[in-house]
Amino acid sequence: MTSNLSPIDKAKYVAAKRAVDYVEDGMKVGLGTGSTAAWMVKCLGELVRDDGLNVTGVATSRRTAELAAQVGVPIVSLDEAKWLDLTIDGADEYDANLNLIKGGGGALLQEKIVATASDQMIVIADLSKQVDTLGAFPMPIEVIPFGWQTTKALVEETLVNLDVLGRSSSLRMNNDTPFVTDEGNFILDLHLRRIGNARQLSLVVNQIPGVVENGLFIDICDVVVIGNGDGSVEVRDINNGTVEHEQIDVLENDNLFVDIAD
Ligand code: A5P
Repeated sequence: MTSNLSPIDKAKYVAAKRAVDYVEDGMKVGLGTGSTAAWMVKCLGELVRDDGLNVTGVATSRRTAELAAQVGVPIVSLDEAKWLDLTIDGADEYDANLNLIKGGGGALLQEKIVATASDQMIVIADLSKQVDTLGAFPMPIEVIPFGWQTTKALVEETLVNLDVLGRSSSLRMNNDTPFVTDEGNFILDLHLRRIGNARQLSLVVNQIPGVVENGLFIDICDVVVIGNGDGSVEVRDINNGTVEHEQIDVLENDNLFVDIAD
C-alpha cells in the first residue's frame, strides 16, 4: 500500500508512474534495471493487464526480464526488436545536461546498448541522483575477467592524464567472489570523486584493452522524470528545454505494491 511506502520509494514510484505515460500502444520499449526501473516495469504491467496496452519490452538484465514476465509485459530480444521507440531506466547520477553515471546495479553494458538503440531515453530518479558534476558516485566499468588486474592497473595509469580528482578503483564483489555481470564480465568501480570532462573520459577508458564499456551515458538521455516523496514530479526535457511540474495521483493498488524488490 502506498501509505506504507518510504518517501524514497514513493519518489521512485511516482517518477515511474509518470514515465509510463510516454508509452503508446504498439511501442517497443527498453526496460531498465534497478529499484526505480522495477517500479516502472510494474506500472507497465498494470497498463498491459488493466488497460490492454499493447507493448513489447526489451529487458536490460535477467532480473528485469524475470520481473517483466511476472507482471505480464511481453519480452523479446533486442535483435528481434531491432530498434526501440523508447527506453526508461534509472540512473546513479544525472547532471544538468542529462549526462549520467549508470551501472550501480551492474547492468550498464546492456543498458547502454538498449538506450542507444532507442529513439528516446527517459531517466527516472529521485532528487538524490542530481549532481552539479558527475563523479561522486563510483563510475563502473565492465571489464573482461581475463587479465582484469592488468586492465585495472592500465585504467588507473590512464587516469593520471585525465581531469579527475581520484584515481583508485576496486573490483566489485558479491560477498567473497567477484560480481559477475549478465555477460560474464567483472565490474571495476572507479573512485574519481569529480569528473571534469566526462566525454573525454568515456572515450579514453573505452580504448583500454579489456574494457568492454563504461557507465558514462553522454548525450543519450532526453528526459529526466524526478520523483519526490510528496508525490510531485518534475519532468525535464533537454531537447525542448522544458521543465514541467505535476502531482501524481497515487492509487491504492495491492497488486502493484506487493513484492517490489530488486
Ligand atoms: C543498473 O545497472 C543501474 O544503471 C541502475 O539504473 C542504477 O543503478 C539506478 O538504480 P536504482 O534505481 O536502484 O537507484
